[in-house]
Amino acid sequence: MRLIAVENYDELSEVAAGIVAEMIKMKPDSVIGLPTGRTPKGMYAYLVKLHKEQGLDFSGVKTFNIDEFCGVPKSDPRSFAFYMQEYFVKHINLKPDNFHIPNGTAANYAEECKEYEKKIEQAGGFDLIVLGVGTNGHVGFNEPATSLPVHTHIVSLSEETRVAYGKLYGSTENVPQQAITMGIGTILRAERTLLLASGSSKSTVMRKFLQEERVTPLLPVSFLHLSSNLTVIADKEALGMSL
Ligand code: GLP
Repeated sequence: MRLIAVENYDELSEVAAGIVAEMIKMKPDSVIGLPTGRTPKGMYAYLVKLHKEQGLDFSGVKTFNIDEFCGVPKSDPRSFAFYMQEYFVKHINLKPDNFHIPNGTAANYAEECKEYEKKIEQAGGFDLIVLGVGTNGHVGFNEPATSLPVHTHIVSLSEETRVAYGKLYGSTENVPQQAITMGIGTILRAERTLLLASGSSKSTVMRKFLQEERVTPLLPVSFLHLSSNLTVIADKEALGMSL
């Protein structure tokens, strides 16, 4: 594991975008797994900047988002599909057919999960996957549990996660109960993994992750210790370092 400790969120965003850009320059037909949430917004902004100012070319790239809420259509501003269009996709030259995200309004969720997993396999798996981490240690929507599904699946969201999204949905009760997420196995197949953590709210989970070299489904992020090539970018606040 390589840990890159940065000063602040802006630096984290720039360094993360730089790693993604290098990957794309090295392999223009890269397959990349992407997260949503607050953390990667800055990285997307830098990638858009690199596209606009330096011609970073996404035309051969394929992307797969990690997760999506169930029951929220892609036209809904609260969906992750909408987020991706807003912060990233509509500003770059990624081909529409090469952008993938689980369909939160699929008629048959089990079928959707199977299909999504198949599409990732057909694309040849991830060259790079970028991840955030929840305060409870979730990755994607793999919530702490006594066991974790390997592949893309439907998950019941934890109370902590639903509270975290309460603001976006007006109240905790309005937050969907379920989501579709890649499994830990889907995530671990990536050739390279980039984990981003910013802000003091992540310091407890990052301490647990970095100090305990132990794998447990009670801390899903701990499985990233099994990644073949993991880079962690964390700012000082997330590392609990005084500024
Ligand atoms: C969310 C998402 C994850 C995300 C994580 C951290 O619930 N399902 O994909 O990485 O939690 O979110 P944030 O970056 O907003 O802290």
